[in-house]
Amino acid sequence: MHSPYDLFLIIFGASGDLTRRKLMPALIKIYGKSSSAGSFIIIGCARTPYTDQSYRAYLKEELMHSGALTGEETEVLDDFLSIVHYQPMDPADENTYPLLNNRLKLLSGLSGNHGNYLFYLATPPLLYELVPACLCRAGLLEQPGLKRIIVEKPFGYDLASAQSLNKIYAACFREEDIYRIDHFLGKETVQNIMVTRFGSAVYEPIWNRNYIDHVEITAVENMGIGTRGGYYDGAGALRDMVQNHLMQLLAITAMEPPARFDKNGFRNEVIKVYQSLRPLTDEYIRDNVVRGQYMACDGRIGYRDEKGVRPDSRTETYIAMCLYVDNWRWQGVPFYIRTGKQMPTKVTEIVIHFKPAPMQMFQRKGGRYKGEALIIRIQPDEGILQRMVMKEPGAGFYMGTMEMDFTYDRHDRDTGDAYVRLLEDSLAGDPTLFTRSDAVEESWAYFDKLLAYWESYPDTPLYGYPAGTWGPKEADVLINRSHARWTNPCKNLTHADLYCRL
Ligand code: BG6
Repeated sequence: MHSPYDLFLIIFGASGDLTRRKLMPALIKIYGKSSSAGSFIIIGCARTPYTDQSYRAYLKEELMHSGALTGEETEVLDDFLSIVHYQPMDPADENTYPLLNNRLKLLSGLSGNHGNYLFYLATPPLLYELVPACLCRAGLLEQPGLKRIIVEKPFGYDLASAQSLNKIYAACFREEDIYRIDHFLGKETVQNIMVTRFGSAVYEPIWNRNYIDHVEITAVENMGIGTRGGYYDGAGALRDMVQNHLMQLLAITAMEPPARFDKNGFRNEVIKVYQSLRPLTDEYIRDNVVRGQYMACDGRIGYRDEKGVRPDSRTETYIAMCLYVDNWRWQGVPFYIRTGKQMPTKVTEIVIHFKPAPMQMFQRKGGRYKGEALIIRIQPDEGILQRMVMKEPGAGFYMGTMEMDFTYDRHDRDTGDAYVRLLEDSLAGDPTLFTRSDAVEESWAYFDKLLAYWESYPDTPLYGYPAGTWGPKEADVLINRSHARWTNPCKNLTHADLYCRL
């Protein structure tokens, strides 16, 4: 028997951005927890010709300047780096895999590890197809011992490619050993939605069409695409954020309570939500999807001027949609979802808007009545806020709303880091919070219709919005159908002359 951490963690893409910014800071946190220190060994693999020493020096420099380490982590940094090794190789070149195999054998002899390998694909998605096949052919999956693989999103770029990837992975690994990572599921505030819903007797009885008017799911950012133009221009907001992150938020908000909270119970319910989505017919798409692209404004450059982006690109950097979950619980309740780059602020939140009381005997006090809602703030200012009706103090009986809020920060509750949680789960062999093959395919099957529609109708409106604003006005019109407005945590700037159709 191996201990849960008696593993080699082999990271492909070890000199890349993800490894530096997310994986290594998370791994040092895991290492710092005494129970796991010394029980896993990391082997970084990439083309850069580092040695163990020069890779450790590079990581030390990066980690020390990242601001990600606590005092305690800085103290154990050198110890942590002593379990990090580096194997120069080209993950795209099958001929270099024997180098890794030999290195692992050598390290196994020294460490007593019995062939328990966890591979992490922190590489560009182009390599997702190739790496498992190369691992197989180089005999790296043959030795006894545990063999697991973690793959970053995007898992495929449409249904056909996701199906083909699933086949390749299934030929090399068991489904329970394939960890398709969606870091949103590692967020404490996302996991808490399940506890608020299924652990509380207050919300569960009213979590349905009888009491909920509509639901908003927002994940917007105040940055552009930075240096990721090459990837993003081929992906767009739909593939980058909606098909995975927003779908996970939707599933957790809308799912039925699983009979048991385990890898099958939870993931079976996710699938059922995707299967209940109202199909995206052409007519439905025309009425329910708005896409946009940010344009230069107030010193922020426009999307088409970003590095790696085609000057006539029609890739969407913003998307708003209205979805329906056609099942007993949610019949008739619209779910408005949106995501965008270059918005006024960064915020991810879910707002559950409750229906008004069946009979109103009190008058509403103008602007102070916003309707009752539960606001689940995923990030930043992580917390939860209940907006409820209250009498306006003073003469008469007028209704206003007030807000009761809980923030993790104010109560000194650390929400931790999504990558720490997910890496710990994958080291320990718990795939509950990772996407199963059928969910990936179900989600792509749903969005394939939209991708096909955009391809068939290239003139589908793409609205230009000024960088730093809340996106196309057409998205406001979309949500106005529910006599509602998007919950924007800060005001829109007015650049009326800059909105256009591209
Ligand atoms: C990534 C997307 O998956 O999630 C990025 O590729 C996006 O485009 C990021 O910026 C957002 O994640 P978070 O955790 O910062 O909200």
